[in-house]
Amino acid sequence: MSKARIRTHTNPFNFHEKLDPVDFNKIFKKNTGKFDLEIGFGKGVFLRHWATLKPQDNVIGVEVRKGIVDFVRKRTTEQENIHLIHYSGERVLEDIIPDTSLENVFIFHPDPWLKKGHHKRRFVRPDNLNLIIKKLSPGGKIYVSTDVESLWESMTETLEESSLKEVEDTHFWDEVYTSHWDKFSIEDKRTRQFGTWEK
Ligand SMILES: C[S@@+](CC[C@H](N)C(=O)[O-])C[C@H]1O[C@@H](n2cnc3c(N)ncnc32)[C@H](O)[C@@H]1O
Repeated sequence: MSKARIRTHTNPFNFHEKLDPVDFNKIFKKNTGKFDLEIGFGKGVFLRHWATLKPQDNVIGVEVRKGIVDFVRKRTTEQENIHLIHYSGERVLEDIIPDTSLENVFIFHPDPWLKKGHHKRRFVRPDNLNLIIKKLSPGGKIYVSTDVESLWESMTETLEESSLKEVEDTHFWDEVYTSHWDKFSIEDKRTRQFGTWEK
């Protein structure tokens, strides 16, 4: 991996405090009670694109790095269907997101936490996945990708052991998904792997 992308990941377990409940009627101009959620949106390339494609849908983005939340916030002030939260995905799911309210959950290129002792910090792990399942609406989908082989193996193992079923969504992956990450994968000679699971 190029030096530019070697950075210390932010430990998701540093976000201890329980969040106060949120009134989504005050947050979204058109609150439908249904949401899409991107966990770890990074520079927000996909999030902004998705919210533009789906002006009727409300999109929540969660990210642990404050600097990039501020960066994306400045670029999304005009997009009323986006709500950004600087916190950990696990706490936001647990504390704020109503049960069965999520239509789509996006987790693209989550931090790989390569050291064995750090695997428990990987986002796609059984406890987080159970939380996502609880928050997904019936038929709701989770989209995941990574270009790290060992992470893909652990994510798919976790997903396959869950109650979700894998589905094809070539339209999404070929025509909708957009990211600046592919250029990193190509530079580093890594292959993006991706999949969709449904509740
Ligand atoms: C490798 S980057 C990928 C960013 C973006 N999804 C993309 O595909 O370009 C992973 C992002 O997830 C964030 N992240 C890691 N763990 C998280 C967690 N538990 N909750 C929210 N964000 C998290 C990191 O800060 C980082 O910005």
